[in-house]
Amino acid sequence: MKNPPLIIFVTSGLFSLPALHAEVGVLNLTELANYANQPVPSYIVHDNTPANNPITDVGATLGRVLFYDRRLSRNNSVSCASCHEQGHAFSDPDVASTGVAGTTGRHSMRLINARFNREVRFFWDERAASVEDQASQPIQDHVEMGFSGASGDPGFEVLTAKLSAIPEYRVLFAATFGDAAINEDRIQRALAQFVRSIQSFDSKYDAGRALANDDEDFPNFSAQENLGKRQFMLPPDQGGAGCASCHTPPVFDIDPASGNNGVIGKIGGGQDLTNTRAPSLRDLLGPSGPNGPFMHDGSMTGLGQITNHYRSAIPDNPSLDPRLRRPALPFHNRDLAPLRMFLHTLTGKAVYEDPKWSDPFDANGSLQLIILPPAAFDLVRDESGEEGTRVLRGRVAPNLDYRIEQSTLSGETPEWETLATVRSDADGLIRHEVTTDSGKRFYRVVFAPPSP
Ligand code: HEC
Ligand code: HEC
Repeated sequence: MKNPPLIIFVTSGLFSLPALHAEVGVLNLTELANYANQPVPSYIVHDNTPANNPITDVGATLGRVLFYDRRLSRNNSVSCASCHEQGHAFSDPDVASTGVAGTTGRHSMRLINARFNREVRFFWDERAASVEDQASQPIQDHVEMGFSGASGDPGFEVLTAKLSAIPEYRVLFAATFGDAAINEDRIQRALAQFVRSIQSFDSKYDAGRALANDDEDFPNFSAQENLGKRQFMLPPDQGGAGCASCHTPPVFDIDPASGNNGVIGKIGGGQDLTNTRAPSLRDLLGPSGPNGPFMHDGSMTGLGQITNHYRSAIPDNPSLDPRLRRPALPFHNRDLAPLRMFLHTLTGKAVYEDPKWSDPFDANGSLQLIILPPAAFDLVRDESGEEGTRVLRGRVAPNLDYRIEQSTLSGETPEWETLATVRSDADGLIRHEVTTDSGKRFYRVVFAPPSP
């Protein structure tokens, strides 16, 4: 027979064990975390994911590795996560974040529910056109990660060459994009998939919103929380503080038409009238304290300062939002305690804890093992081979050594043993003959990055 059908053995397979616990430094692409199909509440209707970059589990996993990798900065000292900490709703407790050459001019932003924002432009001043466009800007920033190509900095092409020289990135880009090429577009896509995957919908507010609309009291709220919700939702002429017209529920993202809110300071002094965006007010507070400081200049640390700002007559400036060109609201700051209680109901839990958004590297900043996805391989009958032999074949990143491992998968914690080390060819093909009558019936392909 010239072209025998591909037969995957029924008693043998390409397999991986359910992870009993996630091992540090092990990236298991056979059991990807769910980034692509996370449940989203029915009342969330906007999604700014572009048709050409949907979230995939493997793409967001690559994005996670990039997000936590300090090698994305020119001197290997700063990662995205240095300024966007998971335990702090992906913001920074410092007013100004430390990059490779000094500190940032604005306060870092929480990265919560970016995917569901109606304002699809990013940064406080909305200078990035999309999450993809945003993703390479910190890398190219002289202060933040330092691949600016100016002021004596290396350019972006030096970063792509640097990453291309790291075998585990060739493996991961090949698993994500079909071949091992590494370029700015792919780096942006993977990082954007990871950032868009960060979502938080398990707050007390969400439990209430599932039962009632925003203009109704929530059955799971205290009387004070419901009063605070009305203060947040209603405009000043109906007795509220008018927050919802700019920080629109249920995402609590910024109204794309918002002007500035009268906070016009600059870190280090001076004036900045250009800031018209805020991240979602969800997870403003974390389970263990505020995720502040707040505002683009980090000038506010507590909710009392914030409600005091908004209840007052805000000094005019040329780009102050017209909604805030109004006299002081008829509230004493203590009258707004319920509003502050309401803001506490917007705090989630999983976003701070879920390992899928955590650092994938071990204590030395390395990955020890990448277990490749079985979909990249098949186990076929060998035309010319002996009875009882099969060929394990697949396409991976070229010219690298991969380990073929086998196991019986029996017992509580089945052991994998190395069968062979096989080098992929220049087209990325690997091929290895396996004997299927040894009782070891399951196979997997792993890449163990060489120690740096
Ligand atoms: C040195 C600190 C630092 C590093 C490193 C850094 N960021 Fe940021 N990030 C900030 C600051 C500061 C802002 C706000 C800047 C501004 O608006 O001018 C920000 C804003 C953002 C925003 C906009 C959020 C919004 O709602 O508009 C995103 C998304 C983001 N960063 C993602 C990343 C990614 C991805 C990386 C890594 C490639 C990264 N950041 C690296 C400090 C940092
Ligand atoms: C006219 C639109 C508008 C209204 C009304 C408004 N805000 Fe804002 N808000 C903004 C803008 C714009 C920012 C970004 C400020 C900056 O430049 O730092 C912001 C920032 C914030 C922040 C800081 C977010 C962060 O991540 O640091 C909080 C908290 C906040 N607003 C709460 C409120 C509350 C509570 C109310 C109602 C009392 C309210 N806002 C009313 C537009 C508005």
